[in-house]
Formats: sequence, structure tokens, C-alpha cells
Amino acid sequence: MADQDIGKRRAAEAALEFLPQDEVIGVGTGSTVNFFIDCLGALRQRIKGAVASSVATAERLQAQGIDLVDLNDAGTLSVYIDGADEATAHRQLIKGGGGALTREKIIAAASRQFVCIADESKRVGRLGAFPLPVEVIPMARSYVAREIVALGGRPVYRHGFVTDNGNIILDVHGLDIVEPIKLEQTLNNIAGVVSNGLFAARGADVLLIGSATGVQRIA
Ligand code: 5RP
Repeated sequence: MADQDIGKRRAAEAALEFLPQDEVIGVGTGSTVNFFIDCLGALRQRIKGAVASSVATAERLQAQGIDLVDLNDAGTLSVYIDGADEATAHRQLIKGGGGALTREKIIAAASRQFVCIADESKRVGRLGAFPLPVEVIPMARSYVAREIVALGGRPVYRHGFVTDNGNIILDVHGLDIVEPIKLEQTLNNIAGVVSNGLFAARGADVLLIGSATGVQRIA
């Protein structure tokens, strides 16, 4: 197994410590989370079920025999486990490489604790080298792109991709993200933007960074 995958798996295994007893948990999307879901299968009796952040995650959870729960029926979740594309020591993140950012943001907001799992390649000093995903209502694509250019970004349309919510993604390159919370709010205020991949106002509560040599916990 490649070192990056070992790091993902180690972070995923470390997250099992945060599993509550007999409660519904939130589960994110991506290859790191897939390692977590694979581990969760053996522990499925311990939880009541899971709220999935994407269709892909829902299918994987079901394959492990884990009951799916609608967020509207779950109330506040005690824990949400998800990956990231970039993570800082302040636990602020860029997410959405897999295009599930809006549902991920909703579940993170509805959870008391957000545990982020990532391999060490995701750790950055400053957010923005990874193109920032922005989910946009299809008819607003050109307008939102122009607004993002005015902010200094270079939006690239993610061709052939439709989110689970029926929207499109603009991946924004070239942003020097000095004030992540401010940029998160500014982008959210553009008409037609559904959400953006900055998880800064509500970052992770715990960051588990896995590598070939172990897991670093940042809380
Ligand atoms: C999906 C996400 C993922 O958490 C992010 O893209 C990281 O994915 P991976 O674990 O495959 O590196 O935000 O929308």
C-alpha cells in the first residue's frame, strides 16, 4: 500500500475512538472516509446508523450493513467524520474535491464534534493551493464566475460533473486565502452560490493526520 494510503487508513482507524454508543453519526465522502467506512462495518452494532454526505457514501455504508438515517430525523449528531483536501494547524479546511461540499457543510453544522481525518499530504500552512470548490446553481454559472474573477480568483468549470443536489462546481484557482472566514462569507453572499469548500467559520474540532509512522492529533 502506498504511504499516502497508509496515512489515510491510520487516520481513519484513529477516528474509531470517537464513535459514540448507540447513536447516529455523520459520515463524509472520499477515499479517506472509505477506509473509515470499511472499519465501521465490523463495529456497526455499536451505532444506531449514519447520515451520509453523498450518494456514494450512502451506498458504501449500506454495503457494510449500516442503516442510513435522514438528517431531518436524526436531530443534532454527536460526531461527524470526514476528510479534507487541505487542513491547517488551526483546523480550517478546504473540502469538496469530491463535490459533496454542501451536504458535508450541513452535516458538520448539525454535529457537536467534527473529526477530520487526512493523510499528511493535506496539511498546509495557508489554504488555497488546492482549487477551492464552489457549488453553484446552474443558471448562475457565468455570473458567479465573473464575481469570483473580480475577487481575484480563476474559476474553472468542472465539466461533466453534477452534484448530488443537481448543481455545478466551479473550482477556483489562484486564491491567496489570507482571511478564510471572510472569504467563506464573501463567496456565500454571491447570488447563485449554494456553498463553498472553505470550512473556516466552522472548522474541524479534531484533526487526525495519518502518516506511515503514526497519527498526529490536533485539537
Ligand atoms: C469530498 C471531500 C473529501 O473529504 C475531500 O475531497 C478529501 O477526499 P480524499 O479523502 O479522497 O482525499 O471534501 O467532497
